[in-house]
Amino acid sequence: MKKRYDTIVVGGGIIGASIAYHLAKAGIKTAVFESGQIGQKATGAAAGMLGAHAECDKPGTFFEFARASQQAYKRLIAELKQTSGIDIKRHNGGILKLAFSESDRERLMKMGELDSAEWLSAEEVYEKEPYAGKGILGANFIQDDVHVEPVSVCRAFAKGARMAGADIFEFAPVISIEPGSGAHVVTTAAGKAEAEHVVIASGVWSGVFFKQLGLNKRFYPVKGECLSVWNDGIPLTRTLYHDHCYIVPRHSGKLVIGATMKPGDWSEQPELGGIEAVIKKAKTMLPEIENMKIDQCWAGLRPETEDGNPYIGRHPENTRILFAAGHFRNGILLAPATGEMITNMILDRPVDQTWQEAFKADRKEAVGG
Ligand code: FAD
Ligand code: GLY
Repeated sequence: MKKRYDTIVVGGGIIGASIAYHLAKAGIKTAVFESGQIGQKATGAAAGMLGAHAECDKPGTFFEFARASQQAYKRLIAELKQTSGIDIKRHNGGILKLAFSESDRERLMKMGELDSAEWLSAEEVYEKEPYAGKGILGANFIQDDVHVEPVSVCRAFAKGARMAGADIFEFAPVISIEPGSGAHVVTTAAGKAEAEHVVIASGVWSGVFFKQLGLNKRFYPVKGECLSVWNDGIPLTRTLYHDHCYIVPRHSGKLVIGATMKPGDWSEQPELGGIEAVIKKAKTMLPEIENMKIDQCWAGLRPETEDGNPYIGRHPENTRILFAAGHFRNGILLAPATGEMITNMILDRPVDQTWQEAFKADRKEAVGG
């Protein structure tokens, strides 16, 4: 007999795991089907910055959504610890978004429009981080842009969901979804299952399901290569950030250094040239990394959409099929708000109208928007 659920989630990255957690907590009988292991794809490659300000630059719907999700993490730290026993390793230092040129300075000073971004002079930057590289003209300091450990968050969501009654199937790729008037039938490598609702949350690999379900939306991989080093010698409390490059100090004493942006590359292996480029940029921010021992190098695929915004919402013709994919550079940041939004839609609870419009699956994308 086929297993029967209220909701099946396709994909066990941080987005699928957050959705499962929020649904199971609300008493919805949920299953997650994951091709491989929970949190091992883009989620496992991420630095974990909750960079609402660092990644947005300007006010608007995306920033408001990002900010709501960032705030939700404050509650989740204790909640996930209690429900799953897992510490998501929030690091409180914040981000210093550095200016090395006049044009950087002009752009960053405009960020004052965003709440909680504070402009610091060069002297103030060096006072806070004495080992920062030469030539800094100032920085935006964003105390609220903390970071977490992405795999811990994903595993905490998944375990929290299990504790609330969800089934999580690993090594169980979904092959097809047949929409039905009663239940949808989901065929996986581990057998068939049925559910009243299906949520597509399979990151950059979601395109195949959009197509199966009659929506012509493309997903583009943007490969990011990173490395980590052991910082045994110098103090670094805050994340240093410049021109898409960052140095993130983890609680373990490691620094995560990232990341390249390679559009259209589906390979998940880091290349020497990519790692070399990341090191070169990072050395301008923190020359001391030259003396640090390499821990590991890796790569992951950011799921980008036509306009850079995620699809979060219902299928336009079948409201019991939902999408939550395409979180590009910010899936870790946006996971809590995405999980809540999808859960509220499934439970027919109110959902912010502006967010629904901005992220709906059948929007007309303004390319590069
Ligand atoms: P994924 O984590 O890729 O999960 C999708 C899952 O679906 C995978 O586990 C996959 O195996 C599964 N799947 C695919 N096909 C199927 C199928 N047919 N059946 C079942 N399962 C399937 N974001 C931030 O907010 N902060 C950061 O600091 C940050 N840093 C980043 C650094 C790098 C180098 C990269 C690459 C990304 C970074 N991101 C960051 C972005 C973030 O990692 C992604 O936006 C986020 O992980 C997307 O989550 P996801 O669950 O949609 O995708
Ligand atoms: N948000 C950081 C990255 O995508 O590299």
